[in-house]
Amino acid sequence: MSEDQFETLAIHAGQEPDPTTGAAVVPIYATSTYVQEAPGVHKGYEYSRTDNPTRTALQTQIAALEGAGPGVGAAGGAIATSSGLAATALLGYLLKPGDRIVLPDDAYGGTFRLIARVLSEHGIEWTAADLTTDDGIAAAMTPDTKLVWVETPTNPLLRVVDIDRVVQAAHGIGALVAVDNTFATPYLQRPLELGADLVVHSATKYLGGHSDTVGGVIVTGDDDLLERLRFLQNAAGPVPGPFDAYLVLRGLKTLGVRMDRHCANASAIASFLDTDPRVDSVWYPGLIGDPGHAVASRQMSGFGGMVSFTPTGGLEAANRIVTKTRLFFLAESLGGVESLIEVPASMTHLSVEGTDLEVPESLVRVSVGIEHVDDLISDLDRALG
Ligand SMILES: Cc1ncc(COP(=O)(O)O)c(C=O)c1O
Repeated sequence: MSEDQFETLAIHAGQEPDPTTGAAVVPIYATSTYVQEAPGVHKGYEYSRTDNPTRTALQTQIAALEGAGPGVGAAGGAIATSSGLAATALLGYLLKPGDRIVLPDDAYGGTFRLIARVLSEHGIEWTAADLTTDDGIAAAMTPDTKLVWVETPTNPLLRVVDIDRVVQAAHGIGALVAVDNTFATPYLQRPLELGADLVVHSATKYLGGHSDTVGGVIVTGDDDLLERLRFLQNAAGPVPGPFDAYLVLRGLKTLGVRMDRHCANASAIASFLDTDPRVDSVWYPGLIGDPGHAVASRQMSGFGGMVSFTPTGGLEAANRIVTKTRLFFLAESLGGVESLIEVPASMTHLSVEGTDLEVPESLVRVSVGIEHVDDLISDLDRALG
């Protein structure tokens, strides 16, 4: 195992100087194919759907940050995909008709749509469960459950799921556990160390970190699972281009310093909202009164950059606030250096309307960026009116 710390791995894992030119930064290998000396005799690369050196570097880097793969001398590795949902869809190919996926009763709307409206059409069963309680976990573990999808903290209600508890129950019935680590990032939470089989990210968010690319990753510490997923990715084709892989690789180098600032700013904003009479409820696992605080304190090294709240004036107030901020851009997505604000019920989570995953209509979700926190608080203060 590598002795290097997280910040060092982020800058060095998979990123040796280019052997032919000495370039200190991994080049963007803009090539679809690779010249062979004789049929089947090549330098390890044949065709860029199968492999591309820029993508390989990213895969080694993110796997190392999650504690897997050659960058840390461990088993397994990562697969970079064309989006976060492409990563989730690849996991769907591991299942067959009659198999069941359990997902949390609060989760990203697109994940729910993929499972409930697409995979279900191919015979995959699903259950939405409250994975924050022992009873909820136990009820979901039926003999046909083959994959338990954990999102923690969840999008958008920031619920915290005890990964270790879910792993114990799922492994007891032979099911795989996949953790969507998009909100926490490996800087704050490493699910493989807690026994999860798979980690999935929307690399579009904190990993890329600059709102300039769409991507996804899957990480596993299991060589057989990695092999299977590599086969599935090559067979189905959801790969990122080399420029997108490069943007995530570059973004990841500063993940630690960015997350420190995201967490500090979000914590200050959550405290500000929590004591403001114009706000009804605040969801942030860093608040002592938050139901997920105890588990988050144990399983995460920080509470992340996402905060949700409901204003006292209901939907009308929510819609007014999100159009009045100057620094918080009204936009979908999250995890970039710039602050964003949105109303999930009518934007990112439209697809969960009328289901077990429905979110409060007046919920406002903020992705707290790395601007100066005083400016961010003034902006929200003004917008609250
Ligand atoms: C928690 C979470 N997981 C997965 C996704 C899907 O990622 P992508 O948009 O990169 O496909 C998102 C997108 O918002 C998300 O918030």
